[in-house]
Amino acid sequence: MDLRSGQTLAVVGESGSGKSTLARAITGLLPPRSGTIRFAGRELSRDLAGRSKDDLRELQMIYQMADVAMNPRHTVGQIIGRPLEFYFGLKGEAKQKRIQALLDEIEMGRGFADRYPAELSGGQKQRVCIARALAAKPRLIICDEVTSALDPLVADGILKLLLDLQKVEGVADLFITHDLATVKAIADSIAVMYRGAVVRYGAKSDVLAPPYDDYTDLLLSSVPEMRLGWLEEVIASRRMESAGN
Ligand SMILES: Nc1ncnc2c1ncn2[C@@H]1O[C@H](COP(=O)(O)OP(=O)(O)OP(=O)(O)O)[C@@H](O)[C@H]1O
Ligand SMILES: [Mg+2]
Repeated sequence: MDLRSGQTLAVVGESGSGKSTLARAITGLLPPRSGTIRFAGRELSRDLAGRSKDDLRELQMIYQMADVAMNPRHTVGQIIGRPLEFYFGLKGEAKQKRIQALLDEIEMGRGFADRYPAELSGGQKQRVCIARALAAKPRLIICDEVTSALDPLVADGILKLLLDLQKVEGVADLFITHDLATVKAIADSIAVMYRGAVVRYGAKSDVLAPPYDDYTDLLLSSVPEMRLGWLEEVIASRRMESAGN
């Protein structure tokens, strides 16, 4: 698959189809068994140890559970400040200024830098995770079900924020989701995964238009569930229906 700067690739598929595994391979957390990952003209090392500091910085990930992605003992300022110090060596006044600018970008006011994660709403926590990713000045942000734990209205706000930031910063987004409405709204291209393989990949307008393969057809006509094997059941029940007719 290819992903260009300023573009969004949506990865969809039932639970267990390998979406997060793909993300882990790209970020270097899980060495791929085969294949290569090319990034900004260079081939990335298969495992984390072989990646440069720039590789790590330019490729940021945001997770579904904003809770567990943050150290509960660190303030929002410390959480956003860490990548600023680690990647850019920012300290003192310069670091504080950048933290404030990032808080402004995620539309959270001045008072938030001193707050702890436990004092934030789910949507605010996810915004802080976005700010922390942006602090690294990434070229690619991988979002793994980042809105799944949020109510639809808050989720919508997070999506709008990500899209706005994408326009301003020109980052590429790899967006993993179960939600086809989201895919329709934000994707430029779509990859459909099934049993660890990409079964369909192309521009949004192509993937969302017939003729579909069986799996994509089912995926588009069903509401995918967070449960392994639901698709097999749908396929089996359809077979029974057609056998009975
Ligand atoms: N470290 C691991 N070792 C062995 N098997 C794993 C490991 N991580 C994931 N798997 C298996 O690989 C398959 C794909 O898992 P993955 O987490 O990528 O699915 P997913 O598409 O992200 O699902 P979900 O939508 O539920 O998050 C699953 O069958 C899972 O059990
Ligand atoms: Mg997953």
